[in-house]
Amino acid sequence: MLTEKIKATTLQYHQETEKILVGKMKSMRSVADYAHILELFYGYFGGLELLIDKHINTQNLPDYTDRRKTAALANDLTNLKGNLPPKAEDTELPQINNLLQAFGALYVIEGSTLGGKIISKMVQQHLGITDGQGLSFFNGYGEDTGNKWVQFQQKLNAIAPTEAQQTEVIAAANNTFEKFRDWMVKFSD
Ligand code: HEM
Repeated sequence: MLTEKIKATTLQYHQETEKILVGKMKSMRSVADYAHILELFYGYFGGLELLIDKHINTQNLPDYTDRRKTAALANDLTNLKGNLPPKAEDTELPQINNLLQAFGALYVIEGSTLGGKIISKMVQQHLGITDGQGLSFFNGYGEDTGNKWVQFQQKLNAIAPTEAQQTEVIAAANNTFEKFRDWMVKFSD
């Protein structure tokens, strides 16, 4: 099944990404530091969603509108008086030229909702920020996060039944993680 293969083949990048982000969370001392982390996500996911929008829509993924993250990130940043930085573009982003590549990129974005629940708890503990004050992105789908993930996995398996299609989705997911890692490192300079 694609969902098992993609999890195994992106594991290395997931671990790297998680490590960088946990480091940032641990050194977070103020709301401004947290807003800086949100800016990083806004810039990358914001640019990535513009590419995904060219291939995925409510016709081929009925709840796609709920799954977009740019508006939630912008709202959180506005609540916390952060900036809306420029979005990633060109070589800062992976190649997304068709539906399969778009689903590979969306896999990375959707998967981030699973870690988001943990991050949300860390932010609440460290900074005392409560719901409604800038946690909507990391809270994701709240209680519905597990269901939304299972539904997404089913869709992923359905759109890429052949080996060649699966290889294309997996390559795009790895490329999306890799560029995000580079983006986070660049943002930290
Ligand atoms: C502090 C940071 C993070 C933590 C603690 C974390 C933690 C987790 C956890 C607990 C899971 C569920 C694993 C399972 O149930 O099998 C998960 C899955 C996942 N996470 Fe993260 N995560 C973090 C950051 C991220 C970020 C920033 C991204 C994307 C940019 C991401 C992408 C994914 C993906 C794609 C999956 C799904 C793996 C699968 O196919 O089952 N994670 N993460």
